[in-house]
Amino acid sequence: MRVLGIETSCDETGVAVYDTAFPGAEGLRAQALYSQIALHAEYGGVVPELASRDHVRKLLPLIRQTLGDAGMGVGDLDGVAYTAGPGLVGALLVGAGVARSLAWALDKPAIGVHHMEGHLLAPLLEAPDLVPPFVALLVSGGHTQLIAVEAIGAYQLLGETLDDAAGEAFDKTAKMMGLPYPGGPQLAALAEQGTAGAYRFSRPMTDRPGLDFSFSGLKTQVLLAWRGSDQSAQTRADIARGFEDAVVDTLAIKCERALDAAGCDTLIVAGGVGANTRLRARLAQLASRRGGRACFPRPALCTDNGAMIAFAGALRLLAGQRGDDAIRVMPRWDMASLPSMDVAMVG
Ligand code: KG4
Ligand code: ZN
Repeated sequence: MRVLGIETSCDETGVAVYDTAFPGAEGLRAQALYSQIALHAEYGGVVPELASRDHVRKLLPLIRQTLGDAGMGVGDLDGVAYTAGPGLVGALLVGAGVARSLAWALDKPAIGVHHMEGHLLAPLLEAPDLVPPFVALLVSGGHTQLIAVEAIGAYQLLGETLDDAAGEAFDKTAKMMGLPYPGGPQLAALAEQGTAGAYRFSRPMTDRPGLDFSFSGLKTQVLLAWRGSDQSAQTRADIARGFEDAVVDTLAIKCERALDAAGCDTLIVAGGVGANTRLRARLAQLASRRGGRACFPRPALCTDNGAMIAFAGALRLLAGQRGDDAIRVMPRWDMASLPSMDVAMVG
């Protein structure tokens, strides 16, 4: 089954074609991504209306380009998948409108994909041998969640952030120290030049049982440290390193607890912060110490992309799921409400 995937939930227009006749990553026949970073940079964050308008401009050319790269025409598609939520309502509507219209014109099925399920399943695209049960750490700009995955499509929330998401904490901390938007990856790069231990921040909510997170206090600690410092380049790098170590430690401590709670040793990590090198190394080490395994998508598949939507949509379409023809989006959407599916049907 050849599925066109469309991602427009925030500030990236992502398009991909996934063909389930090929195993794993080979099924990814083509993909294209257009990032709106430059468009939003002068505002220091995503401006929803500008995001929607830019998706309108970029989506159709990207679909043409992707199909061309895959050596296909629209007539070769067997289905269309699009991000139906969570995300910015206007941005989501652009992808949903195009996807549903295309599917209707082709008389092919379309499916609205949950953006976080797209992230969660991305590691499986490259590791098709991975089978539940496992624990998923979803760390993006909008979410920080630990999820017990009993079966593909059956998700139980174990813990989540009570305030800022991990990516949001990276972005806000970077902004406070004068780094340009989006600061997360830049802060991580800066931390590489920092001295470990020069600044030590707390590991929030690790001193009590539970699997929830809180990152907003950490941001305040960094602000106070930064204001009280000489604000030199080296100090900025040292603070960045202290912040990154605190976030990585906190995530690792909770991942270990979640694996214990779920009684398994397989951890999958997805979402933009999953591209963080130090987090990847730390979690890989944790899993191997337990005799288990940690799986991450390649960094480009951690951040928003069309491939994860094409892949998750292909699994659901193969399982016989499809929506009605209505163009409907869910800016807020609980993953636990998703119907389960039988992944044995893949291939
Ligand atoms: O999944 P994603 O692309 O978009 C959302 O769905 O939110 O995640 C974006 C987030 C941003 O907050 C960004 O700063 C963060 O992921 N991020 C990183 C890194 N790369 C992206 N955070 C830390 N280290 C990185 N290398
Ligand atoms: Zn995302």
